[in-house]
Amino acid sequence: TGRLVVAVDGPSGSGKSTVSRRLAGGLDAKYLDTGAMYRAVTWAVLRSGVDPQDAEAVAKTAAATELTIGVDPAAPQIAVDGVPVDREIRGPEVTAAVSAVSAVPEVRRLLVERQRELILAAGRIVVEGRDIGAVVAPDADLKVYLTASADARAQRRSAESAADVAATAADLARRDRLDSTRKASPLQQAPDAVVLDTTELGIDEVVERLRELLAGPV
Ligand code: C5P
Repeated sequence: TGRLVVAVDGPSGSGKSTVSRRLAGGLDAKYLDTGAMYRAVTWAVLRSGVDPQDAEAVAKTAAATELTIGVDPAAPQIAVDGVPVDREIRGPEVTAAVSAVSAVPEVRRLLVERQRELILAAGRIVVEGRDIGAVVAPDADLKVYLTASADARAQRRSAESAADVAATAADLARRDRLDSTRKASPLQQAPDAVVLDTTELGIDEVVERLRELLAGPV
């Protein structure tokens, strides 16, 4: 079991998190949720009373925030200045502000640097996000880009969050637009990524397909 880096990118609701955690578990690899890192910095920004649109103040807060990041696929954990925030970072306040915070170039510079350190230290790891194959780990052994129809993504997210489907669809559309059009490393499909549409596929089928890709010539 030598080094192995799998990059999993895609919009929210594409199945990234469930697929990545399960794949990591089966490969005896670590798991890094980079979205949780952007969410944790956003939580710190809101806690400090900083305006998420104030790029300079956001960058300062990010630099002064200490993130503790667990990479166990069975129980990924994240803390801000020693305070566990696993539940808080999934709330509507953080979700509404995270696209603004993650568009700040200095925030991305800090977090990408940290992500590369975590990947190096882990050796074997599945990393999920928006810019992993293109920016964070361009030399990954396998790059996957997961997609699904807007309907399927909204259905999955609303099932997770107990919010209604229409409101979830509107929120996803807003975040997709912001994440895809920002200047600093937008959501992007690496040219050498394998694209998988998960609209009609179950989690197990997606994980199985990725295991096949890893086993055979990619
Ligand atoms: O994956 P998740 O929905 O938790 O990500 C939350 C937000 O973090 C995304 O909407 C995006 O703005 C940002 N993000 C990012 N780059 C990543 C991962 C997440 O900009 N690699």
